[in-house]
Amino acid sequence: MMKKLITGATGQFGTLALSHLSTRIPAGEIVVSVRNPDKAADIRANGIEVRQGDFDDQTLMEQAFAGIDVALIVSAEADNETRIRQHRTAITAAKNAGVKHVIYTSVIDPRADSAFTYSAIHADTEAFIKQSGLTYTILRNSFYADLLLGGVPHALETGQYAAPAGNAGITYIPRNDLAEIAAIILANPAEHANKTYDLTGTKAITHAKIAAIIASATGKDIAFADLPGDVYEGILRSLGLPEHAVIAVAGLYLAAKNGDYATVSTDAASILGRQPQSVDDFLKHALNKG
Ligand SMILES: NC(=O)c1ccc[n+]([C@@H]2O[C@H](COP(=O)([O-])OP(=O)(O)OC[C@H]3O[C@@H](n4cnc5c(N)ncnc54)[C@H](OP(=O)(O)O)[C@@H]3O)[C@@H](O)[C@H]2O)c1
Repeated sequence: MMKKLITGATGQFGTLALSHLSTRIPAGEIVVSVRNPDKAADIRANGIEVRQGDFDDQTLMEQAFAGIDVALIVSAEADNETRIRQHRTAITAAKNAGVKHVIYTSVIDPRADSAFTYSAIHADTEAFIKQSGLTYTILRNSFYADLLLGGVPHALETGQYAAPAGNAGITYIPRNDLAEIAAIILANPAEHANKTYDLTGTKAITHAKIAAIIASATGKDIAFADLPGDVYEGILRSLGLPEHAVIAVAGLYLAAKNGDYATVSTDAASILGRQPQSVDDFLKHALNKG
């Protein structure tokens, strides 16, 4: 019996990936690694083994990976230097523990010199995985459609859906579809050995269009407001985001305006066996829930 492990199984992506995997393979074949096992009581109650793991602790990660054949390594959340080190630690631990195949959540168009500064982390981790000799599957996830909901309360208050996005098209895709893709690959890893997938939504969508969808879904008069980058950075700082996140999130829009996130790929549909949910559909469902 092959053992499959998911890191970050108490995070949003990991929770969804685990739920999709649980419908595909028996609980006894699944192990999760979480930083705080107290938060994973529900997972344990479903018959899934819970281990403690933290990318800051290589010995602990080697214990978490013991006896595992295939691991989904969900990228962490920190500044570039920390996260590059953490991801290298996780990959080294997987290799030392005898894991055969790692699946990694990268980003679309990973580049060391991208204006989206977190992109450099994924470029480093991908290169590190490829030189490790491990079998790999790289999931180059485009941006979560879920992120678009963050601007909705402000839009409902002011009538302005604000972002420094200009006329950029971005291939947003729901987190849930990306998590299902990760689960499909975990369930049948051999088919995806040494593959790199570009996982985008069905279209590159502009913020003017996103504002129009939100207006239609809520019945409110909402229009896109293009913000200057420095104003947007100031807003993020005032919300308490750490400086590395301010620069990365603002940089995402700069990269998007360069056209970096406008290319649609069919990889997601090929793996899912259907089209991913459109941003239109995703936002309409999310906004009409409550
Ligand atoms: N494509 C996109 O649009 C997008 C957007 C935001 C983030 N991301 C990336 O995708 C990842 C998953 O997204 P998400 O929505 O699930 O984010 P999330 O809910 O914030 O989850 C972050 C996950 O990272 C794990 N983590 C953080 N530090 C760690 C460490 N030192 N060792 C081990 N695990 C660690 C957390 O583990 P615990 O469960 O133990 O807390 C958590 O599961 C993010 O961490 C980020 O790298 C992508």
